[in-house]
Amino acid sequence: MEAGGKGLLKKLWSAAQMAALLGPGVLFLAIQYARKRDRLEPKAPLPPWQGVGKPLGLKAIPGGVRVRFPEVELEAVFLGEDLLRLTWSPGEALPPYALAAGEGEAFPFEPERREGGHLLKTPRLALGVGEEGLTLWDGAGRLLRREAYPERSGRAWRHRVRLAPGERVMGLGERAFPLDRRGEVFRFWNRDPGGSYGPGEDPLYLSVPLWLSLLPEGGYLAFYENPADGFADLRGEEALVGFWGGPFLYYLIPGPLEEALARYLGLTGLPPLPPRWALGFHYARWGLRRREEVEEVVEGFLKRGLPLRAVHLDIDYMRGYRVFTVDEGRFPDLSGMVRAFGERGVRTVVILDPGVKAEKGFALYGEGLREGVFCRLPSGEVFLGPVWPGLAAFPDFTDPRGRAWWGEKLKGFLDMGISGFWLDMNEPALFAAWGEPTFPRSVRHGLEGQGGDHLLAHNLYGLLMARASFEGFWKHAPHRRPFLLTRAGFAGIQRYAWAWTADVESTWEGLRTTLWALLGLSLSGVYFVGSDIGGFSGDPSPELYLRWFQMAAFTPFFRLHSARWTKRREPWRLGEEVLAGVRWAMWLRERLLPYLYTLAYEASQKGLPLLRPLFLQGGTPTAQAEGAGLDEVFLLGKGLLVAPVLEEGARVKEVPLPPGRWYPWQEDGALEGPARVRLPAPLERIPLLVRAGSILPLLEEGGLVLHLYPGEGGGEGSLYWDEGDGEGPYRLDGFRLLPAVGGYRLLWESQGEYPWPWEGVGLRLFGGRLLRAWVGGKAYPAGEEGARLPPFQEAFLEVAG
Ligand code: GLC
Repeated sequence: MEAGGKGLLKKLWSAAQMAALLGPGVLFLAIQYARKRDRLEPKAPLPPWQGVGKPLGLKAIPGGVRVRFPEVELEAVFLGEDLLRLTWSPGEALPPYALAAGEGEAFPFEPERREGGHLLKTPRLALGVGEEGLTLWDGAGRLLRREAYPERSGRAWRHRVRLAPGERVMGLGERAFPLDRRGEVFRFWNRDPGGSYGPGEDPLYLSVPLWLSLLPEGGYLAFYENPADGFADLRGEEALVGFWGGPFLYYLIPGPLEEALARYLGLTGLPPLPPRWALGFHYARWGLRRREEVEEVVEGFLKRGLPLRAVHLDIDYMRGYRVFTVDEGRFPDLSGMVRAFGERGVRTVVILDPGVKAEKGFALYGEGLREGVFCRLPSGEVFLGPVWPGLAAFPDFTDPRGRAWWGEKLKGFLDMGISGFWLDMNEPALFAAWGEPTFPRSVRHGLEGQGGDHLLAHNLYGLLMARASFEGFWKHAPHRRPFLLTRAGFAGIQRYAWAWTADVESTWEGLRTTLWALLGLSLSGVYFVGSDIGGFSGDPSPELYLRWFQMAAFTPFFRLHSARWTKRREPWRLGEEVLAGVRWAMWLRERLLPYLYTLAYEASQKGLPLLRPLFLQGGTPTAQAEGAGLDEVFLLGKGLLVAPVLEEGARVKEVPLPPGRWYPWQEDGALEGPARVRLPAPLERIPLLVRAGSILPLLEEGGLVLHLYPGEGGGEGSLYWDEGDGEGPYRLDGFRLLPAVGGYRLLWESQGEYPWPWEGVGLRLFGGRLLRAWVGGKAYPAGEEGARLPPFQEAFLEVAG
């Protein structure tokens, strides 16, 4: 645990940084607060750790067993043949905020007595209860995990997990570290690193105590359903995982890892299908102080033919940073502006910070006080901490009344036509001149009536602010899909919001760190993620900016954003070369929209990630995943391999190709994997490869075009489409390409009520020359741009040679 204020020098340094960035007024409040927090922070020494001893007896219960120890008990229950829940008691039970629905059915089975212990076995998973600890095997009898019985110290629990040679541990939420987490210590404690972070900063805004273990053969997922302050120490051959309070409760799921992740999403919830516009390009900038400045930017994009889909208003729109207010002087007739943007296809998103300015006369504050929705100190006094508007009170989102109150406040903005909310500062973050920039641990929370302290509720704050906003959104705009973007969260956050990696530095290391953070989130069940293009806190070189843009075009959330003290960075301000590169990235993104939307749909139905490290495809690691490739490239869906350029001056990128054949983007000659290949990466684009056997739906001039990249057995692809928002009818099209004499047969099957919205369909074939296509005895010629056909169930593609 980090103690507040270690050493005068450290304090002075962080205070100086804060003054430089935020000004002397904020510094004064931040010093005052840090002193108050140091006073309030309980610093009782921890009692020594004590083991729980050996099991004394075991009793069958529905779906599992209860194991008795001298002073504690373990309950091991199968909630399915591939889902085991382990609960140690006594523990501080909490409402199951991370979980989507009720528990699964207990899986019927018989415990077997074995020499030296007991065995609990399903076709997919086996748990051994031994003298010293627990052992887990998969259905094939492969050893997955060995853990010692835990230790306790006061409210805290921890245990040791053996790590096998060659085992990689991934996940653990958003981290500024390479994907394989071994060799480091991580903390589960949502934290605003304060203005700028780079590689090695820990913890960051969004923690998920989910651990993915990739073993030389197979792997498993472990999820600790405990939001309390915790840690995972992965420095040795034994990992140490623990929490300073809360329930010691975890789930184990066997691999393959993509299935395990989907299973975890079954438990903690699937991400809802987003409105389609959200998959387009977003623009944000902190420091646009007037309506005209925002209008000028929007105009700037549109007049250059750059497809802008959403503009975000940062805290500048508020009156003195008071949440839920609009400064009418600087942003007159906001709803008029929102409407005018909407008519041009640009949505408006506004930022919301949880802190409510503690000011006599501010109606929202008065109301919150009257309704008793703010967090309090143990003395009963409302807790106040400094944020943008000065001292503020904070809604208690762990109290249903607090959530409902907050949700109501969204109505005004929704009625005005605001399309989404950007939830910031919800770690919760405060300005503290030194030490932890958050509430003291003693702050009280309702926790659905049971009550508890901030040590337990801290990591839930962002999750439940998102939940309150989601519920309010649904209530007041039931015909629109909620769009929420959050900085903090916990397991389950995917049910409500997208996440962005926030205040990263504008350096090449920052870009690399961003890729780690994005993939780490994706491997923790948070699939809709993105970053501030160019980095938040500094001025990227034109080259870095462009490389960042190119990578971001293939991440689910695609947004430009920057701090107010940086140079303006709309794409046309960085020179012609950059603008041309940005245009390529933005338009490719637009073309890929049907593919992305289909991936979003699959995520919402099956729990499959959009961003996938190479090893997630196919279950077992390949030789390629062994090398640096793990952190260098990623898959977007199953079909597209994206190789971002992460080094200054690089014009070639070494790409680890997984097994199979891979077509460089829109080329005819496929490359054979597994291999490491060097591909050209000129400034204007990054290497992209398509897996042979893919059919990608793209939106091009004239309508929908299927890009066919045949593999040995042909290929397949699908397309999900609907109105783009709301819950109306949809359609799901499946395409299959089958090799045939002289070409291919292409089969098209549709489901759903939504009519095909384009005129026919275009086809482009790679890896062969399409001469013409036949539908029902009629020939359709193919030119450079492929062929265009009317809707069909079966077509024949005649190929040269
Ligand atoms: C935080 C956010 C950043 C935002 C700023 C002002 O630093 O991470 O994105 O621009 O606050 O609201």
